[in-house]
Amino acid sequence: VRTEPADPIPPTVAWADGAVRLVDQRRLPGTLAFVDCRSVSDVVAAIRNLTVRGAPALGATGAFGVALAAAAGADEHEVTAAAASLRTARPTAVNLAWGVDEVVRAWRAGGTDAAIARAQAIAAADVAANRALGTHGAGLLPPQASVLTHCNAGALACVGYGTALGVIRAAHEGGRVVTVWVDETRPVLQGARLTAWELDRLGIPFRVVVDAVAGSLFAAGSVDAVVVGADRIAANGDVANKIGTYSLAVLARAHAVPFYVAAPTTTVDASITSGAEIPIEVRDGAEVAGAEGARTIPAGARVHNPAFDVTPARLVTALITERGVLHHPDASGIAVLLATA
Ligand code: MRU
Repeated sequence: VRTEPADPIPPTVAWADGAVRLVDQRRLPGTLAFVDCRSVSDVVAAIRNLTVRGAPALGATGAFGVALAAAAGADEHEVTAAAASLRTARPTAVNLAWGVDEVVRAWRAGGTDAAIARAQAIAAADVAANRALGTHGAGLLPPQASVLTHCNAGALACVGYGTALGVIRAAHEGGRVVTVWVDETRPVLQGARLTAWELDRLGIPFRVVVDAVAGSLFAAGSVDAVVVGADRIAANGDVANKIGTYSLAVLARAHAVPFYVAAPTTTVDASITSGAEIPIEVRDGAEVAGAEGARTIPAGARVHNPAFDVTPARLVTALITERGVLHHPDASGIAVLLATA
């Protein structure tokens, strides 16, 4: 009997003894620790304070959050209120609202057991989707590829395996040589802290660079492809992702380097026609004003701290999903993709 080797990265989100167990991403890379959320307000706080982050991980966490309310015996009014607070804990990643709504629907149809089962199915489907999109995307990378990625779109941003890092991981597992440029990703450092931690655990060679290095890497011919994740994709293929993604897409176009977006179809929001309708989270300026208590800007200086930007579809070479690769995404291609089972 062939068994899968143990995954070096534990599930980001899991249902454990009636609690929602999360990897505490605030403590990485120093410490791998877990947090058990036992109430909906615990889950909402964990989403807001970035204990858990990344679009697919937020989808599963929102799903388990509703299951938690159901398991506590919540009635219709309480489940509706729980769903509303979970859905709005962060605004940009559409997976969060999607995961919440799915489990509310399951609870209304079948009660607590159905709610828990649906949340568990969402978590399992996430890992399966990422493995599938990883396989689809790996074939796009040239031999001996140097790939630039931004933020963390790895296992930690999902339930497991990862989207952008899923593509890199699948290529690596398939015997291809891939080396990764890891953008530090100011101001929360998801690249430096989380992507680097994952690649280290997976044995995939990488180097961390500050975000401002990207231009010189392209100019030197040192980037063969950009692969990033997504928080929300509009019906026309515009992509919201971590702030700084748009700049990379412009650089990639200027240097004729392919720019790939890897995301499950649950990240597509067919209800909005373009990226202009995507709500962009603006986070606390304290994230920019200093690190670990040390202030790096003058006292009283104002900060603008948008967490995401929008890359127009015309700059996306291909969208890599669990259903296959959509080259040059646009409204008609996205519609066909969504209609494909
Ligand atoms: O603010 P974050 O860390 O939640 O932002 C995450 C990202 O921008 C990721 O790239 C995106 O959610 C895709 S995760 C597979």
